[in-house]
Amino acid sequence: MPVTIVVGTQWGDEAKGKISDILAENADIVARFNGGDNAGHTVVNQFGTFKQRLIPPGIFNEKAVSVVGPGVVLNLKTITGELQDLASRGIDITDRLWVSPRCQIVLPYHRLIEELTEKAKGDLKTGTTKRGMSPVYADKVSYNGIRLFDLMDREKFLKKVSTQLAIKNPTLEAFGFEALDAEKIVDDELEKFELLRNVVREPFELIHNALIDQAHVLVEGAQSTLLDNTWGTYPYCTSSTTVTGGITAGLGIAPKWVSRVIGVAKAYSGRVGNGPFPTELLDDIGDHIREEGQEYGTVTKRPRRCGWFDAELVRFSSMLNGVSEIALTKLDVLDKLPEIKFSTHYESSETHQTMRYWEGDADALFDCDPVYETMDGWMESTAKTREYSELPEKARNYIERLEGLIGYPISMVSVGPAREEIISKK
Ligand code: GDP
Ligand code: IMO
Ligand code: MG
Repeated sequence: MPVTIVVGTQWGDEAKGKISDILAENADIVARFNGGDNAGHTVVNQFGTFKQRLIPPGIFNEKAVSVVGPGVVLNLKTITGELQDLASRGIDITDRLWVSPRCQIVLPYHRLIEELTEKAKGDLKTGTTKRGMSPVYADKVSYNGIRLFDLMDREKFLKKVSTQLAIKNPTLEAFGFEALDAEKIVDDELEKFELLRNVVREPFELIHNALIDQAHVLVEGAQSTLLDNTWGTYPYCTSSTTVTGGITAGLGIAPKWVSRVIGVAKAYSGRVGNGPFPTELLDDIGDHIREEGQEYGTVTKRPRRCGWFDAELVRFSSMLNGVSEIALTKLDVLDKLPEIKFSTHYESSETHQTMRYWEGDADALFDCDPVYETMDGWMESTAKTREYSELPEKARNYIERLEGLIGYPISMVSVGPAREEIISKK
């Protein structure tokens, strides 16, 4: 069966972009189904280094089509900028890009409303990427959204923006922002829309014909399971459905077509933004991992919080997404640590009973005690290794212990950012 999904199992930035780029080499269609330009997916291949925000990595395979599905929210400035950047680097994909007209668009008021909401929440803020994600998804579910369909008719678009401003401007003014002008928003967005117009076409039939022909459709998840709006560490999460089940609503693919789900997990843990992080390291080891792993946000450049691998979380994510295998990434980042810890499960700090991730909310996670095991580090570079059997024995012991704890097979181990820095583990 033809659909492979790449999904993050932690809090994002697990190297989904790298794994998708590798798999895109054999794909006919590569598609995104969720999120927006809050995503930053790094691809390092023979064409250079790319930070993809909205366009999936099918672009690097000239036989593949790239699809931005209807579940994605579009910042027109970002997507047109991304297209221009690719074109300036010799990759022109306008013939091979399909953007669903059902995509909601992010407008200037979304970012302002997010700014004032985050400010009002003080310590309880989510620590977002400031791309207007929560207001644009809130508008979508409350029938206040504006979709690419609406931009095809200026009068209709202007009417919808004016209606939204009638609701939103008083709030913006009350919080000290200037009222926004509908005509200006419409002109600015239409200018960018013109650059995109030729690729705005519903991919539903294209995808379905591909599925019937048993073509290979690769779906690249954005954000990650623990940022999912329902199953993640709410309210320290994102606004879209990030889990594999989201591909039906976000792309128009029924579950029966999915044959392979690759859960991507770093060999340690990390998150950016606020929220619980039971295995976080607020010490020199955390700093060491941050520097070795270059853990700074792709979108916001914020230092990412780093910690030990958390098997409870990756096990949960694997169950929820129905993963068939795990790609374990950034193993090389641990190369210089003499001792490596990982958490096997949690205990309640009050009762000392085993606590499962799914039983509680984010506040419960603030109060749990991760239970750790310790292993010797391998203390040698793994970056040049290409055969699993050639990894240091202690590194293999670590990988295999994690595999046992997660309960799903690790099929690939990544030891560097580049496409070829990958080890297949059968
Ligand atoms: P994504 O959002 O899941 O696609 O991940 P990001 O691109 O935001 O972050 C992953 C970062 O790790 C990027 O800078 C990648 O180039 C880098 N990277 C990917 N795989 C590896 C690896 O195995 N080792 C190291 N050291 N870096 C990696
Ligand atoms: P990729 O696809 C890491 C986090 C933000 C914040 C929370 C909500 O590159 O893995 P939002 O702007 O979505 O409302 O922010 O989610 N976040 C990410 N963290 N990687 C991402 O994407 C993220 N997208 C959102 O830091 O904590
Ligand atoms: Mg990222």
